[in-house]
Amino acid sequence: MSARLAVHDLTKHYGGVQALRGVTLQVDAGEVLGVVGDNGAGKSTLLKILSGAVFPSAGEILLDGQPARFANPAAAHAAGVAAVYQDLALAGQRDVVANFFLGREKLAGNWLARRVGWLDGKAMAAHTESELARLRTRIPDVRASSRDLSGGQRQALAIARAAAWTSKVLLLDEPTSALGVEQQHQVLDLIRRVSTEGMAVILISHQMPDVLKVCDRAVVLRLGQVVATLSGAELTSENLVGYITGAMGEGEQ
Ligand SMILES: Nc1ncnc2c1ncn2[C@@H]1O[C@H](COP(=O)(O)OP(=O)(O)O)[C@@H](O)[C@H]1O
Ligand SMILES: [Mg+2]
Repeated sequence: MSARLAVHDLTKHYGGVQALRGVTLQVDAGEVLGVVGDNGAGKSTLLKILSGAVFPSAGEILLDGQPARFANPAAAHAAGVAAVYQDLALAGQRDVVANFFLGREKLAGNWLARRVGWLDGKAMAAHTESELARLRTRIPDVRASSRDLSGGQRQALAIARAAAWTSKVLLLDEPTSALGVEQQHQVLDLIRRVSTEGMAVILISHQMPDVLKVCDRAVVLRLGQVVATLSGAELTSENLVGYITGAMGEGEQ
């Protein structure tokens, strides 16, 4: 069976800078793959390529075994791949429901209302509530403005929104870096739940405890290359840090 998402020999140049040098990796449905590495290792570039925001210079992306070329994030989204970036892209002054449906507002069932473009607020609120409850997101009031939510609740909303509109692959860039301990746990639980439902998740993180807690496997990027893929008993903080810093792996390949 082919992986949900596979990347072969992905390369990206920015002028003279080689951000990615022949990256090969894969992630299955129901799996969380960690991507770790020092600043400048190429993590965000990889995520941007997978989400259709940036074009690779060379290499191949396969979605369920089929070659995929995403012209833009909307095309990636339509194919079932979505990213949550660090800025979350929430509309602060709008409520949770509006953010959940941002760009996908459901038109009211009534033909007249549909003609004038009214939105079916009740149905949207009910759908938002049920999705947030299903993922056990702790957001008590869907009519609250998103700027009044805690950092953890905002992150949870952004992830739940992406998961609700995405069918195959969820890409997360440092989802817990700005959060307190309790909120980190909630977001990690949410990531686990989303993956248990069958999503393939790629998680970029600097937080080694997060990677150990939630990832089935992790790849270490160093200077744009995969220097290690760790799982099982090899997936330890010592090994991750060793490969990230280059203390391990140099001269081994
Ligand atoms: N838009 C860009 N233009 C030029 N260089 C870039 C651009 N984006 C990233 N880079 C460079 O590519 C390399 C990898 O960056 P990035 O993917 O952001 O790494 P990471 O997310 O692991 O910190 C770095 O050397 C960075 O300076
Ligand atoms: Mg980055």
